[in-house]
Amino acid sequence: MSKKLKVMTIIGTRPEAIKMFPVIREMERYPEKIKPFVVLTGQHTGMLKQMHTFFKIKEDYNLNIMSYGQDLFTVSSRIISRFKKVLERFKPDLLLVQGDTTTVFISALSAFYLKIPVAHIEAGLRSFNKYQPFPEEINRRLTSSLSDLHFAPTVKDKNNLVREGVSPENIFVTGNTVVDAVSMVLEKETNAGGGLLKRLNFRPPLNPILTKEGKGEVVDKNIILVTAHRRENFGKPLQNICKALKIIAKRYPEYRVIYPVHPNPNVRNTVYSELKDISGISLTRPLSYGDFIHLMKISSLILTDSGGIQEEACVLGKPVLILRDVTERPGVIDAGIGRIIGSKTEDIIAETSKLIKKFNSNKSKIQNLKSKVQKPFGDGRAGERIVKVILKRLG
Ligand code: UD1
Ligand code: UDP
Repeated sequence: MSKKLKVMTIIGTRPEAIKMFPVIREMERYPEKIKPFVVLTGQHTGMLKQMHTFFKIKEDYNLNIMSYGQDLFTVSSRIISRFKKVLERFKPDLLLVQGDTTTVFISALSAFYLKIPVAHIEAGLRSFNKYQPFPEEINRRLTSSLSDLHFAPTVKDKNNLVREGVSPENIFVTGNTVVDAVSMVLEKETNAGGGLLKRLNFRPPLNPILTKEGKGEVVDKNIILVTAHRRENFGKPLQNICKALKIIAKRYPEYRVIYPVHPNPNVRNTVYSELKDISGISLTRPLSYGDFIHLMKISSLILTDSGGIQEEACVLGKPVLILRDVTERPGVIDAGIGRIIGSKTEDIIAETSKLIKKFNSNKSKIQNLKSKVQKPFGDGRAGERIVKVILKRLG
């Protein structure tokens, strides 16, 4: 029997778990050829555990690096000092990393120090702005320098890599694995709509305007779904976002703002102190992936600074207002799904109002742009393509 290929995937944060999952599942289809290992840095704990429970991912090792209010120095130094012995113990033939977090860059650097090949999933995205997103733009560029195989979601991402001198024969356009993940959720789960809202039991209870006449039942319409967690928005910008949400909630009482709040204390403290107990706004803990995708599906509009949620909005055909000044995902804009609006209070109110007026004049309850979407991030088979390349190049 020929030797199995030892492929180690490393996961640190919520989006990495979501986007790595389809690749792990695909590798499990080749038990005779691949021996997969899953290592967690534990850059996130609670949110990662939530994703692992949802996807039923089993880890082989956890570096357990997270500390409350950690900064980039603690995260980086803990990963680099703890990952070496794991790499030496498991001796992988390949390290798979996904995205642009500190877990990605530092684990790729660690593998490089031990001359272990690295494959980078979601490679080639560029905002061309060193500090936005910070530190992700530079994490991504440095990871490209350390990688041997580059899995680019789109042709534009591939071209960015080629311009930086990466050999085209090591770049593979695969689509984004987030499309695979969304498809898996939609196939699996049916618990959407009113049932979902009832189960999630948002506090304060959903507005009476969101109830069916006389029955007090929550129905799935007129939801503005919000997330914001990026470093560029800490402090004043996040306060401005919250101020805008308060005004929107007051001006449009027929809409409910639902905001699953990221546990980062820089986010949580600001959001809860600004928006707790505001009529028309429900704050909630982070939701499980299935619940979040279904909530996106029944929302009218999404306001976010998240990268992954923009991509998912494209899959689901939901309009998304992007709470950032630049993007490394131009496909969202080109598809007619997203608009960059930054984090100024008046801009957020103006752009949201514009969309709400458009919805109201169309008399449509649940907004959907599906007809416009050109699937910029692929067809849901990225995981399959990535594993095929790995087997061909290393198997
Ligand atoms: C990180 C990534 C960012 C990614 C985001 C996804 C870096 C530099 N940043 O940012 O690219 O978009 O994850 O969410 O890699 N915390 C918890 N429980 C959790 C997760 C976080 O309590 O499950 C709190 C902890 O206090 C932690 C803090 O959040 O110290 C910050 O976590 P960290 O991973 O450093 O940064 P994020 O802002 O989450
Ligand atoms: N997400 C989730 N539950 C939530 C909020 C987000 O499962 O309550 C998912 C979302 O569907 C997306 C991912 O988390 O796939 C985005 O993660 P995050 O915004 O933390 O990171 P980013 O994409 O900005 O790196």
